[in-house]
Amino acid sequence: MFKSCWIIAAVVAVHLIGTVKCQLDPEIVDEIIPEVTSQGGQAKLNCTVVNKQDGHTVIWTFLDSKSGGEIITNDENIFVENKVCKEGSKKYELAKREFNKRITYMLVINCLEVVDYGYYKCYIQIRGTGSASWPSKIGHLIVQVPPTITSKNVAVLQLDVGHSHNLECSATGVPAPNITWVRSDGGLLPGFDGAQLRNTVLPLKNVTKEDRGLYKCIADNQVRPPDVYLVSLSVFFKPETLAVQDTVGQAQNRQFDAKLECRVSGYPEPEVVWYKEPTRSEGNTQLMQLNDNEKYEITKLIATTTLRFQEAWYVLRIKNVEANDYTKYYCVARNRIGEDRQTIIELFETMECQGANCPSFEAQGASAISVSLLATVAMVTLAKLML
Ligand SMILES: *[C@@H]1O[C@H](CO)[C@@H](O)[C@H](O)[C@H]1NC(C)=O
Ligand SMILES: *[C@@H]1O[C@H](CO)[C@@H](O)[C@H](O)[C@H]1NC(C)=O
Ligand SMILES: *[C@@H]1O[C@H](CO)[C@@H](O)[C@H](O)[C@H]1NC(C)=O
Repeated sequence: MFKSCWIIAAVVAVHLIGTVKCQLDPEIVDEIIPEVTSQGGQAKLNCTVVNKQDGHTVIWTFLDSKSGGEIITNDENIFVENKVCKEGSKKYELAKREFNKRITYMLVINCLEVVDYGYYKCYIQIRGTGSASWPSKIGHLIVQVPPTITSKNVAVLQLDVGHSHNLECSATGVPAPNITWVRSDGGLLPGFDGAQLRNTVLPLKNVTKEDRGLYKCIADNQVRPPDVYLVSLSVFFKPETLAVQDTVGQAQNRQFDAKLECRVSGYPEPEVVWYKEPTRSEGNTQLMQLNDNEKYEITKLIATTTLRFQEAWYVLRIKNVEANDYTKYYCVARNRIGEDRQTIIELFETMECQGANCPSFEAQGASAISVSLLATVAMVTLAKLML
C-alpha cells in the first residue's frame, strides 16, 4: 500500500512538480491482544488505527455464532443497547486515545458473563468501497468461570456390606474443570491403588466397613475458588470394641479413681454397656451392669482426633477404688446387627497412686512434711549452738 502510494506520488510529482498530497490507506496496526478475565470482571480490547480520514469509521463487532457480527460501537458511539450492569458502569464503554497519529479505540466490556466469551472484530469501514477491502483485526476474549458442582444431590449414603453404589460428580466452569475424587482422610480409594481418582464417577463396589468415611469430590479449573462436594458413606456393621489398655492399676482406700477406656465402632451407632464381674466377697455369679451413679461415671468422648469415622471412645470411671473393685470389667456394644462382648479390662491393685490425677506430694505427704519440719528445727538448733 505504502509503496504503491509513493510510486504514484513520485510519478505524479514528476509531472506536476510536487503539489500533490499523498493519501495513505487507513490501517489497523498491532495485533489485538487476547484478554483472559474472570466472570464479573472487565475486559479491554484495543484497536489502534493510523491514517484515519473523513469517510472512515472504526467499528467494533461481536462475532456471535448466531448474529455473525453484532455491531457494538462505531467510532466513539455505542451502537447497541447499553444497560447499566453495575453501580456506575454500563455494559460497554469506548475510550479513544490519540498518540503520534495513532488512534486507539479501546472497547471496555464490564460485568463479564459467559455469553461475552468469543471473538471481537474491529474494522475500518471506508465509505464508497466494498467491505472486502476494509482492514480488520480480530481479538479473543476468554471469560473464565470458577467451577460449580452441579450434582450435589447425595450428601449422606448408607450401604449394607457387599452392596455397590456409584458416586457421581459433575461440574460446570470455563475452562472445563478437572474432577478428582479423594477420601477426606487421605486414605486409599476402595478398589483402586491410589489415593485419588480423576473421574466424574467413583464406583464403590462390594463395600466393606473399611470403606466407610468421608469422600470428597474436587472440581478445579485453576480459576479460584475450586468447588468441593462431600459425601459421607456409612456402612452398616456389627459393633467392635477395643480396650485402650487391657489392665489398669490403682491403689485402694485412698480416694483414688480408676479410668477404664474402650473404643467402640459400629453402625447404626451401638449402645454401650459396662459390666463388672463380681468379686468373691460379692458372691454373685452374674455379671453386674454398671450405671452412672455415685460409684461409677460413664462418659462417651466425642471429637477426639484419633477416632475414626463412626467410632466412639467410652470411659468408665470407678470412683474411690476399694478392695471390691479389683476384678474384670466388660465393655459391651450392641446394635441391631449384632453384639461384641469380647473386651475385658482388668483392674488390679497397686501400692502407689496411678494415673494423671495423683496428688503431687502423694501418699507419704504427711510424713514428708514432718520430716522437713524436724530438719528445720535441727538446723535452727544447730545455728543457735554455733553462736
Ligand atoms: C490499550 O490501549 C491503552 C491506551 O493506549 C493502553 O493504556 C493499554 O495498555 C492498551 N491495552 C492493551 C491490552 O493493549
Ligand atoms: C465382596 O467382598 C468380600 C470380602 O472382601 C468377598 O469375600 C466377596 O467375594 C466379594 N464379592 C464380590 C461379588 O465381589
Ligand atoms: C487438568 O489437569 C491436567 C493435568 O494435571 C492439567 O494439565 C490441566 O491444566 C488441568 N485442567 C484445568 C482446566 O485445570
